[in-house]
Amino acid sequence: MSRTDAKPDDVTDRGGVLVRGVGKEFSSPTGEPLRVLDGVSMDVRPGEFISIVGPSGCGKTTLLRIIQGLDDADSGEIRVAGAMPGQGPTGFVFQRASLFPWRTVERNVAFGLELAALKDEPSRPSSKKERRERVAGLLTLTGLADFADYYPTQISGGMQQRVNLARALAIQPSVLLMDEPFSALDAQTREKLQRDLQRVVAKTGTTTVFITHDIREAVFQADRVFVMAPRPGRFVKVYDIDEKRPRRAEFQQSDRLAELAREIWGLLHRPKSESVLSAAPAAS
Ligand SMILES: Nc1ncnc2c1ncn2[C@@H]1O[C@H](COP(=O)(O)OP(=O)(O)O)[C@@H](O)[C@H]1O
Ligand SMILES: [Mg+2]
Repeated sequence: MSRTDAKPDDVTDRGGVLVRGVGKEFSSPTGEPLRVLDGVSMDVRPGEFISIVGPSGCGKTTLLRIIQGLDDADSGEIRVAGAMPGQGPTGFVFQRASLFPWRTVERNVAFGLELAALKDEPSRPSSKKERRERVAGLLTLTGLADFADYYPTQISGGMQQRVNLARALAIQPSVLLMDEPFSALDAQTREKLQRDLQRVVAKTGTTTVFITHDIREAVFQADRVFVMAPRPGRFVKVYDIDEKRPRRAEFQQSDRLAELAREIWGLLHRPKSESVLSAAPAAS
């Protein structure tokens, strides 16, 4: 794709993500080297929503942790909104809602802002009033306004993930990284949260990298779906999902979505002999 020719700053200064030739090796428990990522490249445009799908263990979480700055790549180049990983304002949502049980919903969402205030980050609101307003706005946006004073144990798993999302957005991150955020939820709650996420990021315009092993979810959410193959993890195909965002229930239930999901499923489940997944790394 020609967009991989873009210079780092063209793509990422305005809030995109650039990943170029990233490799990562771990040691297996027996001490053997385990090549987890090899030549992983992607450009995410500012405001774009991309999904990454791939079988369990193919390296999705490892890649996200590297983008987040929690792990170092062995090779390659990464920029997140023009900055090195871990340097810019980035929001994270993981499968388990890591909320503070002793804080109310409102105080959980405010937590990110309190940290930003301590660290004197540019995204911090300048006054207490502004901070309260921003939190209130996020509670409304994520459908939590009536639950501000509840504690995490008093709300459902779906609502806990809403709190997690609101907290991640509180610092107004340029980039939102989500790792299977809805996979612990029941199907109906999951579909509702997928639609709500569409609405929320359409409002905030946040560039989003969304990891899932649910192919339908990947297609529903994203402008582009990156398909990752295992051992070592790398992208073998990118699908453009030509449908306006925010996506709605009609698209979620549409034949077109089902068709696209089937096609991607077929790519991931082809017999080994004819599989592109065991071929040389594809250019992304
Ligand atoms: N810290 C680590 N040390 C050793 N191996 C690891 C470590 N983290 C992940 N792995 C291995 O890397 C591979 C990819 O893991 P992961 O990125 O979690 O995959 P995914 O998120 O796609 O399921 C797996 O084989 C996993 O066992
Ligand atoms: Mg994972």
